Amino acid sequence: MNITVNGVTHEIESGLLTTLLDVLREELGITGPKAGCHQGGCGACTVLVDGEPRRACLLPVAYADGGEITTVEGLGAPESLEPIQQAFVHHYAAQCGFCTSGMMLAAHSYIAHGGTDDAEAIQTALGGHVCRCTGYSKIIEAVAATARGDSFDLTETAVGKYTTMTTGMTTGGAE
Ligand code: FES
Ligand code: FES
Repeated sequence: MNITVNGVTHEIESGLLTTLLDVLREELGITGPKAGCHQGGCGACTVLVDGEPRRACLLPVAYADGGEITTVEGLGAPESLEPIQQAFVHHYAAQCGFCTSGMMLAAHSYIAHGGTDDAEAIQTALGGHVCRCTGYSKIIEAVAATARGDSFDLTETAVGKYTTMTTGMTTGGAE
């Protein structure tokens, strides 16, 4: 059994019914997918399997045998972030970051499938993804901006529709 993760093919030693999440995190040491609820209810473990978002905590690795897996590590590098990653920085859409990799992968797939900046459509696409920091408004803004093809200035945080503090903020937070 083998899976290709972010372009690198791995022979898998774990059992057939081991979850893809455990294989990624425990066998391969790829920690972008987070272990949240382990029950399919939070989305933190979401990865792309052949381009489609999947809850890795529910998926036996045998299901992904021969498949192409993308985790957040495969989306972009620090010096060449994907637009959705730039948008999350620019729109301050990540706080603790625990939900972020799953959110970004689901959003990346939504946009790759022609998703627009319609807020309700984005909410539907990200349905079931829980942000315990409750940063939903900024997340939707970031996904909408990416869908529009906005460019991002990563030296400053965007002033958003729901932002109440309009000055003195950077990507690192309040100064
Ligand atoms: Fe998989 Fe929560 S850890 S959905
Ligand atoms: Fe903390 Fe979403 S940023 S859970």
